[in-house]
Amino acid sequence: MVFLKKKLINGKPYWYIVKTARVDGKVKTVSQVYLGNAEKILEMKRQCESLTHEIRREMMPVTENSKVIDTILNRRSVREFTDSPVSAEDINIILNAGRWAPSGLNNQPWRFIVIREKETIMQVSECTHYTKVVAGAPLLIAVYLDGENSYNYTKDVQAVGAAIQNMLLAVCELGLGAVWLGEILKQGEKVNSILECPESFELMAVLAIGEPVRKERTSPRKELNELVFEEKYGKVWEG
Ligand SMILES: Cc1cc2nc3c(=O)[nH]c(=O)nc-3n(C[C@H](O)[C@H](O)[C@H](O)COP(=O)(O)O)c2cc1C
Repeated sequence: MVFLKKKLINGKPYWYIVKTARVDGKVKTVSQVYLGNAEKILEMKRQCESLTHEIRREMMPVTENSKVIDTILNRRSVREFTDSPVSAEDINIILNAGRWAPSGLNNQPWRFIVIREKETIMQVSECTHYTKVVAGAPLLIAVYLDGENSYNYTKDVQAVGAAIQNMLLAVCELGLGAVWLGEILKQGEKVNSILECPESFELMAVLAIGEPVRKERTSPRKELNELVFEEKYGKVWEG
């Protein structure tokens, strides 16, 4: 087992990573790595958060040469875009990635509205707290669930989520950036009215897409052992 241990030195706490193993039926420390005091650990945490892509890939050796895994790990939400337009060719690649998502009974309940006109983008930007993000994007894709093609609401929503993730991954692979906007659903009806949608269309998300302003983007994730159980609930997955 590997765990964190605190020792007091001159009354101050210092941290170690301790690895133990069962030897002859007894638990013994087999190695110990000194981490340092709280400030040093916070600094290390900051450095870890900006782990480069290469290092992340090193941590997943089983996925060597997997473009899909690379893109999944590389993708970050992008909320600042340059003025460069997104080409029609790239938009089609993104839309095709969306439509190739799986769906229950292959009913393909998603519908997409591509928005490039500045005036419409500005109107949609007024329907969310993320006005600046939307107004700054050269391209929006409004993602809908078409109630007329729905057979099971939960499964249809899940399918639309899969289509959205496919599109985000395609965006990333094209070297573009995007953010999945959900907060705008609060004003879904207003968006529908701007986009002149039929009654059967329910807004699921708006994707703001464009060329990303270059900057470091990080985003933490829970560890697997916080998320996964082995065989049954309760036994933590240790990998
Ligand atoms: C259902 C859903 C709704 C979201 N809504 C918003 C939103 O309204 N505004 C926003 O800036 N980001 C939104 N996000 C993006 C998340 O904030 C983001 O995915 C999360 O913080 C993880 O960061 P990452 O995408 O960079 O890995 C949403 C994501 C999902 C999946």
